[in-house]
Amino acid sequence: MPGAVIVGTQWGDEGKGRVTDYLAKESSMCVRYQGGHNAGHTLVVDGEVFKLQLVPSGILYPWVVPVIGNGVVVDPAVLIDEVDMLEGKGVDTRLLRLSGNAHLIMPYHQELDRMTERYLGKNKLGTTKRGIGPAYADKALRVGIRVQDLLDPKIFREKLDLALREKNGVLAKVYNRLPIDAKELAERYLAMVPRLAPMIDDTVHLVHEALDAQQWVLFEGAQATYLDLDHGTYPYVTSSNPIAGGVCTGAGVGPLAIQRVVGLVKAYQTRVGSGPFPTELLEGDAVGDMLVERGREFGTNTGRRRRTGWLDLVMLKHAVRLNTCTELALTKLDILSPLSELQVCVAYEGDDGTRYDHVPYHQSVLHKVKPVYETLPGWGVEIEKVGRLEDLPPCARDYVRFVEDFVGVHVSIVGVGPARDQTIVLPRAA
Ligand code: IMP
Repeated sequence: MPGAVIVGTQWGDEGKGRVTDYLAKESSMCVRYQGGHNAGHTLVVDGEVFKLQLVPSGILYPWVVPVIGNGVVVDPAVLIDEVDMLEGKGVDTRLLRLSGNAHLIMPYHQELDRMTERYLGKNKLGTTKRGIGPAYADKALRVGIRVQDLLDPKIFREKLDLALREKNGVLAKVYNRLPIDAKELAERYLAMVPRLAPMIDDTVHLVHEALDAQQWVLFEGAQATYLDLDHGTYPYVTSSNPIAGGVCTGAGVGPLAIQRVVGLVKAYQTRVGSGPFPTELLEGDAVGDMLVERGREFGTNTGRRRRTGWLDLVMLKHAVRLNTCTELALTKLDILSPLSELQVCVAYEGDDGTRYDHVPYHQSVLHKVKPVYETLPGWGVEIEKVGRLEDLPPCARDYVRFVEDFVGVHVSIVGVGPARDQTIVLPRAA
């Protein structure tokens, strides 16, 4: 069945929006399967900038049905704002579908996210404070409130009352915060129903209808492999499963529905929030600062400066395995252009001198590893106008080939700038 997944292979912000937009063009449906408005995708279309948090990137093509799947956690007010922003820019959003099984992010989730971060002090995770973790925790605890509950006001009020009995106790007694008024909150959420109701649907059924009709369905991952709850750098992760396998639970398809897995890899590495980062260039490092400036490495969502570092091929190789990537999209290659030399991490060395060719599972080891670098020559000229592989400078082509050879997966797309047309599509080598 013609399902394709696009998934970040690093810590997010790999330039997913633009590549997703590129792949969405050939799809009939574009499905978000996890995360919430902690994601931030920037798309540039005809000079106009679109910042999306919840709505799938496919929204910008009139023939694509954008779907927010059951695995997503949804702040309905954010969704409505985003729809209004898109409509204001002339984008038709009427095809947008929202799973009735998706869980709602409630104001107490956001308050608890802020409070737990504050209480963790120097051990904080650096979350986006959007309530993502607490909303998924309630889902697992089976006390979450789902989008479909909004369609039955009696049930919605009952569930909210029940939830607030516990949440208000925690907010008041543990965190010394004011309790949330159940009535006022219920009215606020129910007032959004007229806007949401036309979008709410059985998205699993819709996805299968498209697959059965042999139409391409693009599953759009948010966050990325090393922010995965199970396979990322726990606990410095998000609370969902961005890896390709997350599509199965988050959109309701079996693994054989997926034919194509496109792993996104930025030509260097960034991360926001806390956690291990073996190839990190500390703030003040000239190369790191250059990457932040040229790459505009500030969070779409929070405005935070991203931590930057050299490309880590040890992590990439593992990500290729975790996702069964069938191909890679290498983004932001143009950002590296001024450098005369490039480092790429090909192994790690532990503090006892042990060499690691794979990502060590034990975090005490991972926190202390030092990267083993290979130095490659830079190309030293701007490449943002290059449209074909053969027009890339030889050293840039070698960089791409080095990545392919190391991880054993074809690079099918190279990004050389933020606009839709700054994309080089590479034929598979014979
Ligand atoms: P949360 O998802 O808000 O709970 O945050 C958990 C971790 O994931 C933090 O380190 C965030 O900075 C990170 N994170 C969440 N969403 C994104 C994203 O879209 N890009 C990059 N990092 C993210």
